[in-house]
Amino acid sequence: MTGQLQVNRALFDEVMVPNYAPAGIIPVSGKGSRVWDQQGREYVDFAGGIAVSSLGHCHPALVNALTQQASKLWHLSNVMTNEPALRLAKKLVDATFADKVYFANSGAEANEAAFKLARRYALEKFGADKDQIISFSKSFHGRTFFTVTVGGQAAYSDGFGPKPGAVLHAEFNNLDSVKALISDKTCAVVLEPIQGEGGIIPGTAEFIRGVRELCDKHNALLVMDEVQTGVGRTGKLYAYMHYGVTPDILTTAKSLGGGFPIGAMLTTNDIASHLKVGTHGSTYGGNPLACAVAEAVIDTINTPDVMQQVLDNEQLFRAELERINAKYQVFSEVRGQGMLLGAVLNDTYKGRSREFFLAAADHGLMALVAGTDVVRFAPSLVITADDIHQGMQRFEQAVKQVVNG
Ligand SMILES: Cc1ncc(COP(=O)(O)O)c(C=O)c1O
Repeated sequence: MTGQLQVNRALFDEVMVPNYAPAGIIPVSGKGSRVWDQQGREYVDFAGGIAVSSLGHCHPALVNALTQQASKLWHLSNVMTNEPALRLAKKLVDATFADKVYFANSGAEANEAAFKLARRYALEKFGADKDQIISFSKSFHGRTFFTVTVGGQAAYSDGFGPKPGAVLHAEFNNLDSVKALISDKTCAVVLEPIQGEGGIIPGTAEFIRGVRELCDKHNALLVMDEVQTGVGRTGKLYAYMHYGVTPDILTTAKSLGGGFPIGAMLTTNDIASHLKVGTHGSTYGGNPLACAVAEAVIDTINTPDVMQQVLDNEQLFRAELERINAKYQVFSEVRGQGMLLGAVLNDTYKGRSREFFLAAADHGLMALVAGTDVVRFAPSLVITADDIHQGMQRFEQAVKQVVNG
């Protein structure tokens, strides 16, 4: 009988919990940076599944890694380890500051592990008084209750009863606001090098270095949430590498799996030693399918050529956005780095990012918003120049539509 089922957008409202409001179209296939919907209509993908599809859709290296692993071994749980997980962990350790890796299934879970570890480390090393976590206004760290409470938008954590305590919020890019809150009771400061959901707001080098110094002064851990900025998205494997600042704990997800769910927490030997047997875990974390795909993602992305392509693509995006803006005057600036860019709407169009997003879809372009004032682009890192030009032609039509009402 399933063959007769009409799978359409109306079915979503019938059978799905209403916490999302998905677009009217239902995509059914993708290749590179192109996607097709049920009606065969084609879209250029500048959204990348919210900074996830780092190598576009159905990249041959990922299809190969997934299908090879799919015919070997799908799952064990952490009662046993597996080859893809160990290979991936070794690659992450070799490529970063980290000595140890913990695998999870999403960004929120990687952050949950990071925050629990920071608390545990401080408790065991300095005592129960050192439990405060400082994060930032507008930050986003996931939707589990701990991570959403650490995140900087109370609206997302309100309405679910008592919240996890000892979480303080400072102002991003304002070192004085951190100085005002940090003390020997601080166990960790958590930041995104570029705030993603908050509006593509890059942390300044001065701020990030200053936070590192304050953490050192107060024996607090610096946790960098690189869920959105990681795995080459900013033109380096991880964004911390731009600043000459090393975190104590780093979380990564999204681009790491290129579309297959995986998250990871990276840290040092000393800190990792506090997550002893039985203190934390996940049935699926380190799943062989996820790790096999992520290994292929790292192998493909972590090359000088791809890192250069990300920077070249950023220049193309910026040039096209400037060209469009010269004609229609809608943006005040383009923020971000690499393939994580935000076109900030000027005073005339402030609050209307969703209109641009919807108009883009009308013209065959998948874009994103980051709050109400920013149109966000987080495409495949290896999107071709041709796809960028075609996508921007469509975006220009969308801008024209909004401007002309
Ligand atoms: C910086 C950051 N951290 C954490 C998350 C949560 O990741 P996930 O949705 O995979 O749980 C996100 C998702 O947007 C993010 O941008």
